[in-house]
Amino acid sequence: MDGNGRWARSRGLRRIEGHRAAERSIHDAVEYCGEQGVQYLTLYAFSTENWSRPRAEVSFIMALLGSFIRRNIDSLNENQVRIKAIGRLDDLPRGPRKELDRAIIRTAGNEGLTLVLALSYGGRAEIVDAVRNLTADVVSGSLAPEDIDAEGIASRLYLPGIPDPDLIIRTSGEQRLSNFLLWESAYSEYYFTDVLWPDFRREHLEAAFSDYFTRKRRFGDVEPGKDQD
Ligand code: IPE
Ligand code: MG
Repeated sequence: MDGNGRWARSRGLRRIEGHRAAERSIHDAVEYCGEQGVQYLTLYAFSTENWSRPRAEVSFIMALLGSFIRRNIDSLNENQVRIKAIGRLDDLPRGPRKELDRAIIRTAGNEGLTLVLALSYGGRAEIVDAVRNLTADVVSGSLAPEDIDAEGIASRLYLPGIPDPDLIIRTSGEQRLSNFLLWESAYSEYYFTDVLWPDFRREHLEAAFSDYFTRKRRFGDVEPGKDQD
């Protein structure tokens, strides 16, 4: 969800106004994904690298996280949204962490869209954490080094039950991964758009989905029934 700062600056506003304006885009995305029967939506809300931003901006985003959950939890719950989170959640300040934990527990039984919030998330940190976990099993003797495989690593990621993403959308014209779901995105389709996140609406998501459905996903294979010789 990139481009909040530029959105605000282009209007002569402070960067934090861009973060505030992002809420409407989140509503649109959650609503549209729910309607379309999307099962999982992960929002990259705050990265491990974002902690190095000016302290006032970080504090604002953290406070916004808490108040966002408080303001929206009732309607998310009514709409059967199930909230989950990935990242180094212990890095979050106590207030927003508590709101997050409460929201996760309260919505755990919902059966609609699973909304995953990536908070203090980094793809490398996630792999490091998985490797630490795996190493502990090797040291204790319950896992032999030769038995380490891709499934073993995947099963130690933050939310192993959630499938790899089919589509990853990046807004604001940047064309890079910025440490997002490094392991899980091995075969994801990417979609880049110049639209800044606070301007991103359901029609932009619709365009991304249409584009996605034109892609041929072969996962390294050839197309079945074709190109056999
Ligand atoms: C994304 O918008 C929000 C977060 C990373 C929290 P940015 O704040 O990165 O916006 P730009 O890239 O400066 O425009
Ligand atoms: Mg940015």
